[in-house]
Amino acid sequence: MKHLSRLMPPLDSHLEAVNEPVNWSPDSWHARQAAQQPEYTDRAELDAALKQLAGLPPLVTSWEVLALKRRLAEAQEGRHFLLQGGDCAESFADCNNTVITNRLKVLLQMSLVLVHGLKLPVVRVGRFAGQYAKPRSTDTETRGGTTLPSYRGDIVNAPEFDMAARRPDPQRMVQAHARSAMTMNFVRGLIDGGFADLRHPEYWDLSWVDHSPQASEYRDMVDGITNALRFMETLADEPLDSFSRVDFFTSHEALLLHYEQAQTRRVPRNWGWFNLTTHFPWIGMRTAALDGAHVEYCRGIRNPIAVKVGPGVKPDTLLRLVETLNPHDEPGRMTLVHRMGAARIASELPPLLKAVKASGRRVLWVCDPMHGNTETTSNGYKTRHFANISSELEQAVDLHAAAGTRLGGVHLELTGEDVTECLGGARDLGEDDLHRAYKTHVDPRLNYEQALELAMLIVRKSGGRVGA
Ligand code: PEP
Ligand code: CO
Repeated sequence: MKHLSRLMPPLDSHLEAVNEPVNWSPDSWHARQAAQQPEYTDRAELDAALKQLAGLPPLVTSWEVLALKRRLAEAQEGRHFLLQGGDCAESFADCNNTVITNRLKVLLQMSLVLVHGLKLPVVRVGRFAGQYAKPRSTDTETRGGTTLPSYRGDIVNAPEFDMAARRPDPQRMVQAHARSAMTMNFVRGLIDGGFADLRHPEYWDLSWVDHSPQASEYRDMVDGITNALRFMETLADEPLDSFSRVDFFTSHEALLLHYEQAQTRRVPRNWGWFNLTTHFPWIGMRTAALDGAHVEYCRGIRNPIAVKVGPGVKPDTLLRLVETLNPHDEPGRMTLVHRMGAARIASELPPLLKAVKASGRRVLWVCDPMHGNTETTSNGYKTRHFANISSELEQAVDLHAAAGTRLGGVHLELTGEDVTECLGGARDLGEDDLHRAYKTHVDPRLNYEQALELAMLIVRKSGGRVGA
């Protein structure tokens, strides 16, 4: 999101092969089955909102999108590691200073742990600035004899259980665009202003996590890095500016196709179409049907694309998905995010790894250890056990090593806040702790401390086995 000179396309970019998608347009998805869409009842109201959206400035630029694609291509070769994380669902109410700052901070701190431990550059991608739409298991929700549309994320409707709140309101897309812009603006400002400057370790402090069992390991790491930096600056006899800056990219689930389409554009001096609401859209597990609208929409845009891969996906289906979304085997284009659950990954993942490896297709394999491990406690909380999350991740490292493939990144739901939503971790949160700070509208997130703990676990477990 910064260092624009570095992100600008190389001078020879016009020499790139032009591979315009065949029989595709930003609205060709309308001819397919579109799962998980709200029912907008007033066509004129919808059209007015989409027209407004189409006239608003984009949230990202095509050269940033292509810069991320090049980084992901590096990750596919084992030279970078992807850290993708943030809220399950952003909410309009959480578009504020504290939540944005703390989320950025935990992601930066995790990336520091990973860079240091894995000895690889980390590609940082937030699940933010647009992660407002949610797939739901049912279209409606019934309480005490009343049936209303399900809550589908703040970009569609509001969570309160009354008709006015649950009515899908197209204007919410315009509001989501505005809040995404505010979030991006603040994140860009923080990073440009030196929030991630390694020479200012005070920005890297641990706040409430200070007393956690990992604190001294983390502090030693930060001290080591800042000392090494000072040493190098002394040698160079000038400040090393590149250490004061990091790049940050954004991602969200490309679920609400009207919204995605409205900001899908051609740009000057680059061929093809770009989704300019985010750098890195992904297709969720429930909308990954080969002949469905989401795959149709995503196949035509030039952004890098990720697909969530859950239990039950057949190797053959996965290969056809990869072929459809990346027919020219373009580097950096295709990321596969497996989310099997700790109990199933050992049986589900190996056939997929084997098939993709045998196909010779370029993909980035990423583990989402969150979504296959969701459960409900006896006292009614949707939660995840830290032990299952870490187990899935550890198994993923071993399974990739056994298959001769590479785990190139992780996809996590986390927050910088001191929430109590996932069980376990170093402080061993129990079911009776969940009520203390259970704030999520949708899925349970790792809190600050659990997130850092997971980053350290990735480093310990990988022991040189991720990356090259
Ligand atoms: C999510 O990432 O919040 C999500 C719904 O994931 P999945 O599509 O893997 O279930
Ligand atoms: Co989620």
